[in-house]
Amino acid sequence: MKFVVTGGLGFIGSYIVKHLLSKDHQVTVVDNFWRGRLENLTGFEEKINFQKLDILDFDALKEILNDSDGRPFVKVNKLSLNIEIEITNEKLTN
Ligand SMILES: NC(=O)c1ccc[n+]([C@@H]2O[C@H](COP(=O)([O-])OP(=O)(O)OC[C@H]3O[C@@H](n4cnc5c(N)ncnc54)[C@H](O)[C@@H]3O)[C@@H](O)[C@H]2O)c1
Repeated sequence: MKFVVTGGLGFIGSYIVKHLLSKDHQVTVVDNFWRGRLENLTGFEEKINFQKLDILDFDALKEILNDSDGRPFVKVNKLSLNIEIEITNEKLTN
C-alpha cells in the first residue's frame, strides 16, 4: 500500500516510516524541516518519496493524500510508551 506520513522526518514519524518500509509499503514523507532532520531517515533516503511541504498548504497536501491508499493512525500509550500503528484507509476528500 501507499502511505503518507506527515512529520515523517521527526522523532515519532521517522519510526513510523521505517516500520512501514519494513512491511514493504511505499511511503511518501511530508515534512517542512521545522524540527525534522533527514538524518532521522539515514539509509532509507532511496526508499522514500520525500515532499518538502507545509501541511498548512492544504491543496498540495490533498493532492498527495489522494494518491495514497491510507494513512497510519498512531495511538501512544503513555504508561508503557508502546506505539501502536493502526492502518486506516481514510482519504481526505473535502
Ligand atoms: N531521543 C528522544 O528521546 C527524543 C528525540 C526527539 C523528540 N523526543 C520527544 O518526542 C516528542 C515529539 O516527537 P514528535 O515526533 O511528535 O515531534 P517532532 O518535532 O520530532 O516531529 C514533528 C515533525 O513534524 C514536522 N512538522 C511540524 N510542523 C509541520 C508542518 N506545518 N508541516 C510539515 N511538517 C511539519 C517537523 O519538522 C518534524 O519533523 C516530544 O515529546 C519530544 O520530547 C524524544
